[in-house]
Amino acid sequence: MSFAFPTAAPGSEWWRSAVIYQIYPRSFADASGDGVGDLRGIESRLDSLAELGIDAIWLSPFMVSPQKDAGYDVADYRDVDPLFGTLADFDELLASAHEREIRLIVDLVPNHSSDQHVWFQAALAAAPGSPERARYIFRDGKGADGELPPNNWESVFGGPAWTRITNADGTPGQWYLHLFDSSQPDFDWTNEEVRAEFRSVLRFWLDRGADGFRVDVAHGMIKAAGLPDYTPPTDAASMGGAEPVPYWGQDGVHEIYRDWHTVLAEYAGDRVLCAEAWLPTNEETALWVRPDEMHQAFNFNYMYAAWSAAGQRESIETSIAAFNGVGAPSTWVLSNHDVVRHATRLALTIDNPQGEGIGPKTPGPRPDAALGLRRARAATSLMLALPGSSYLYQGEELGLPEVIDLPDEARQDPSFFRTNGERYGRDGCRVPIPWEADAPAFGFNDTGASWLPQPAEFADFSRATETGAADSTLELYKRLLAERAARSLGTETLEWLDRGTDVLAFHTGDVEVVTNFGPAPVSVDASRVILSSEPLTDGALPTDTTVWLTA
Ligand code: NOJ
Repeated sequence: MSFAFPTAAPGSEWWRSAVIYQIYPRSFADASGDGVGDLRGIESRLDSLAELGIDAIWLSPFMVSPQKDAGYDVADYRDVDPLFGTLADFDELLASAHEREIRLIVDLVPNHSSDQHVWFQAALAAAPGSPERARYIFRDGKGADGELPPNNWESVFGGPAWTRITNADGTPGQWYLHLFDSSQPDFDWTNEEVRAEFRSVLRFWLDRGADGFRVDVAHGMIKAAGLPDYTPPTDAASMGGAEPVPYWGQDGVHEIYRDWHTVLAEYAGDRVLCAEAWLPTNEETALWVRPDEMHQAFNFNYMYAAWSAAGQRESIETSIAAFNGVGAPSTWVLSNHDVVRHATRLALTIDNPQGEGIGPKTPGPRPDAALGLRRARAATSLMLALPGSSYLYQGEELGLPEVIDLPDEARQDPSFFRTNGERYGRDGCRVPIPWEADAPAFGFNDTGASWLPQPAEFADFSRATETGAADSTLELYKRLLAERAARSLGTETLEWLDRGTDVLAFHTGDVEVVTNFGPAPVSVDASRVILSSEPLTDGALPTDTTVWLTA
């Protein structure tokens, strides 16, 4: 039996201010030694997360999957992939996390399944118009012989969003929609059978004690009626532009979350739904966290805010206003398994943007690693003082950079293959993390196997190397989390202070936070320093540095 967390009074639930740590299971810790991380590996390392001081874990997908998109292609929503362990391993991991008062959030992928899911296999075997086909989005093609896709939509990973099937007799058949890889067919969420199935999947994990769900592609489950053609603006990435997008942010998704909200509310302990919803504005994102819908929505606009006093202030102000407007906390995030790690991203420039990952042949200069790390430490020190909840991505507490020099033959991200290598994709932030400097696979396992090659520089970033080293990023994170908890910072409000154009400064709780973005040092009262992302120089705050002062 796992430990039961209490249910709090409305307004003071744990998720409003929690620090939640994302584990990407394939790359965290590998007990079996096969080169891919697993649930027993995670359990064996829980003490280091307790020492770090996090409140909860979000576990990226570990369900049965052919792993065409690293588990975001689920073939069985109610079982663990043998690559990661068993359901018993999951139960043990959950119990061990709960014993340490760490909650555990499961990643749920409801927009699409794997093409190996029994429902999709049944749909392929059934006739057009059958109930089996109606669980997915099958359509006849256009053109005289149906040889053209039903519309012009493009997959997020590149190439067309439709694939034509071959009938049992060898003739070409209907087309099915996949907003991502062709191995990830989209469900038809207008179908009540799909809705009932996912209510049951929610209950399956809630009954086992899961503390909630991070919901994949939470903005994509409903498509505009008639599936109209749409050409995205070239600069809009996956968030879309000002124009409505027929597959993102359709009004109909909200009724799904209202339904799920009632399911979670039946369980004690304030279970949480967190939306992965890429939307152009904070105001739109806030619609996902209205009081009867989800509880959190990742603030991706903040993740991409310019590294300047004005850019950060504008993003923080508009976020707080939008989320406060619906009674929800803001959910800050700087890194995850889909973006260039912020210790590298913050050193990129307009001439050298993040693009779709970076690799050995990305044009332009290499991002300056020292600058990136310095800014990342300042950014995290700023983020962890903000009111609301924050997500951390495994390895950022070590200051890990993006791994740029992965050879093409090692890459696994489907977007790399679907674009013939034009987009490097996301493998660079997914490399197994280092635990020890001088061990096989840097302590990721004891065999030395690693599903993506680890660079030699990971030795300098290993947890063992950084533990107890006064100026390490790990020790900075520990201080930040301890001071944040002691001062209840995530639950406070924020009041801006004026310190000049290049400086961002605010009061929150009993702390004054100052970040210097400019070249000139900013004087601070050294006797009030609680912590600083870099040492002060001659009693002043140097560039790209954040300090917490007693107010
Ligand atoms: C978002 C996930 O974070 C990403 O890794 C995945 O590829 C897509 N959704 C598709 O599930």
